[in-house]
Amino acid sequence: MDPLVDPFGRSIRYLRVSVTDRCDFRCVYCMSEDMTFLPKNEILTLEELDRLCSAFVRHGVEKLRITGGEPLVRRNIMSFFEAMGRHLRSGALRELTLTTNGSQLERFAADLARVGVRRVNVSLDTLDEDRFRKLTRWGRLPQVLRGIEAAHAAGLRVKINAVALKGDTEEEMFDLVQWCAKEGHDLTFIEVMPMGDIGNEMRLDQFWSLRDLRARLAERYTLTDVTERTGGPARYVRLEETGQKIGFITPLSHNFCESCNRVRLTCTGQLHTCLGQEGASDLRASLRASTMDDAVLDDAIRAAIRLKPKGHDFDYSRGEAGVVGGRISRHMSHT
Ligand code: GTP
Ligand code: 5AD
Ligand code: SF4
Repeated sequence: MDPLVDPFGRSIRYLRVSVTDRCDFRCVYCMSEDMTFLPKNEILTLEELDRLCSAFVRHGVEKLRITGGEPLVRRNIMSFFEAMGRHLRSGALRELTLTTNGSQLERFAADLARVGVRRVNVSLDTLDEDRFRKLTRWGRLPQVLRGIEAAHAAGLRVKINAVALKGDTEEEMFDLVQWCAKEGHDLTFIEVMPMGDIGNEMRLDQFWSLRDLRARLAERYTLTDVTERTGGPARYVRLEETGQKIGFITPLSHNFCESCNRVRLTCTGQLHTCLGQEGASDLRASLRASTMDDAVLDDAIRAAIRLKPKGHDFDYSRGEAGVVGGRISRHMSHT
């Protein structure tokens, strides 16, 4: 089948799939404390997710990243990973991976490795127990550290994702860099994005441009740009003194839309062709209307890709009424 190409000539090879909007943490930049979650009948079943993801693989998607909320809190999730593992074995899929908060990794790391997962991205913004509790509200650092150790022991490569927060990350960035060097993990910093109503304005107040973070890093280390990419949005540098790779995801300070190769499927079957735009296509309707006919689904996927916008609308500038411009109403945990 022809690969998916959008109107701007970008080939879509990377599908990110949110399998649940639920999470056992309440990170301050992601969720409000009292989140309302979706009713079960809105959520795609694991069989429906299998059918949809398999359709994308038929269309040339080579990299599948499972996300949430927290993907590992979804009941029976390993059966879905196992189902996706068959696309690895057939050679259709090059990479099956996940982004997780690490809370359940101790339990699942060995199973993930068994079905063919080779690396995991773990969200970890701090190594300080009190700060971890403040940022995640419900999370406990030792549990996550045990999860990361289990992943490492199971032979999975670990990449740490740290959201850059003024004040918090500023104080701790060198500790994170040194810890990752010692443990052998890659590390990526992410600029905080204005997504979802989280009931506070901390993201605006705590936005920290990665240009600054990078300059701070360059005061202590020699940075060399790395040209090779992972297929994700990060740009990487190597620290010559330690040999480790540090990534920067900079949707605000350095937009990377022109090379975007990915789309996102929510747990309700909405296909978002851009993280930073409101529009979506309802693939659940096509899926449920055509339980036997994959051609209907294939047409719906192609039609959705034709709507992929050129770039995102994130913006931290203040509008006329002093409000934040460029906010996206849905939560990160949906996408
Ligand atoms: P690698 O395969 O390791 O490159 O993964 P990745 O960076 O694609 O995945 P990960 O889930 O670790 O992404 C980290 C974060 O980058 C996400 O949680 C988002 O915050 C951000 N991100 C990923 N893709 C996009 C994108 O298309 N647009 C924007 N604005 N941000 C993105
Ligand atoms: N901006 C940037 N990154 C975010 N994440 C969650 N909310 C936001 C936000 N508003 C990150 C988490 C995790 C990944 C799934 O998304 O830290 O690394
Ligand atoms: Fe959960 Fe990740 Fe959102 Fe934190 S950032 S609340 S771990 S989905």
